[in-house]
Amino acid sequence: MAGSTSTSLFLPLTFRLNFAIVYIFSGFSNWCNVPTFFSESTIEFKEINTKNKQFFLALTPPSESSYGYCRKYDLPPVTTKTAILFSIFGKTITDCMPFTQKTAIVTGAGQGIGFEICKRLSAEGAQVVLNDIDPDLTHRAAALITAETGNECLALAGDASDVDCIQKMVSRIVQQYGKLDIVIANAGITLFGDFLAYTPEAFQRVMQVNLAGSFFLAQAAAQQMKEQKTGGTILFTSSVTGHQAHKQLAAYSMSKAALEMLAKNLVIELSPFQITVNAIAPGATLTERTLDDPGYTATWSALTPMGRPATVADIAEAALFLVSDKARQITGQTLIVDGGWTSISPSPF
Ligand SMILES: NC(=O)c1ccc[n+]([C@@H]2O[C@H](COP(=O)([O-])OP(=O)(O)OC[C@H]3O[C@@H](n4cnc5c(N)ncnc54)[C@H](O)[C@@H]3O)[C@@H](O)[C@H]2O)c1
Repeated sequence: MAGSTSTSLFLPLTFRLNFAIVYIFSGFSNWCNVPTFFSESTIEFKEINTKNKQFFLALTPPSESSYGYCRKYDLPPVTTKTAILFSIFGKTITDCMPFTQKTAIVTGAGQGIGFEICKRLSAEGAQVVLNDIDPDLTHRAAALITAETGNECLALAGDASDVDCIQKMVSRIVQQYGKLDIVIANAGITLFGDFLAYTPEAFQRVMQVNLAGSFFLAQAAAQQMKEQKTGGTILFTSSVTGHQAHKQLAAYSMSKAALEMLAKNLVIELSPFQITVNAIAPGATLTERTLDDPGYTATWSALTPMGRPATVADIAEAALFLVSDKARQITGQTLIVDGGWTSISPSPF
């Protein structure tokens, strides 16, 4: 959007007012369900994108509103066509979506939890960049999401544990979209093995993907977010095994516990730049990988207080909350999504 603010000055004032009124009363007020709130708010044009014929507006609530703060909101873009239609039919503006204008990257997202998070973010308006180490999977997954949501999802294949690859991905995103707002370090590997026989190679690989990849992705993203001066949000994918001991997972669970401490620690350095850092800790979750075990659903249904393992949708819902503006005051935290398993932690063995 750089350099576009002045374009709005060329719009006639009457058009601006009419447009704002249409916008407020036919769309945004329904979305927020607080019409009176808008009568005291200030609306201003930020940008008109002539190529896509989109209008970008910002809304500043009154300082003494019941919302208790005065903060400028970037409203989701609306098109001229939408504006005309709504002025005639008075319907809700459908492109009022929470992640519109946000650029997000999710690593290890060719399948499973990461894929579902990408799909949800894309469906809710974000410009999503999907990464996976497997190029075929990456391209297939991104194409599937684009087809399903009608919102283009960018495929960036590569090893998310490789610092050089991480930096290239962040540069590419900035080159393509001009900014990076949401980072979900989801790539993780689970290498089971007895502690007494665990090899240095297995240990290194687990630490490289689960820890180093997340650490350096957060670093590269935070540098970019700091430069942008628009804040941002980083989410690590931990696990319930970072909280409870689990047979054959000494290295994996150690890496996940470390990620949660990383989220807490980064509060010190990243809060001044309005960057939040959190972790999500899924419990047993049904994915292509876990369903390789034919007994998985039955085993975890019996062990989980809520009576079933999580679905990828359960995890994605929680992840989307943590990276949304609704969670803007939450940082350094871990949200466990496990149907109650960690409260009692019965062993599957
Ligand atoms: N599924 C569960 O039950 C569960 C439970 C707790 C935590 N988690 C965590 O959630 C995250 C996602 O888990 P999942 O089960 O959906 O994963 P998954 O194994 O189904 O898929 C992970 C994807 O990551 C990709 N990947 C692996 N290494 C990569 C790398 N270096 N760079 C880029 N991509 C890479 C794989 O190709 C795969 O497509 C992981 O961090 C995992 O540890 C999963």
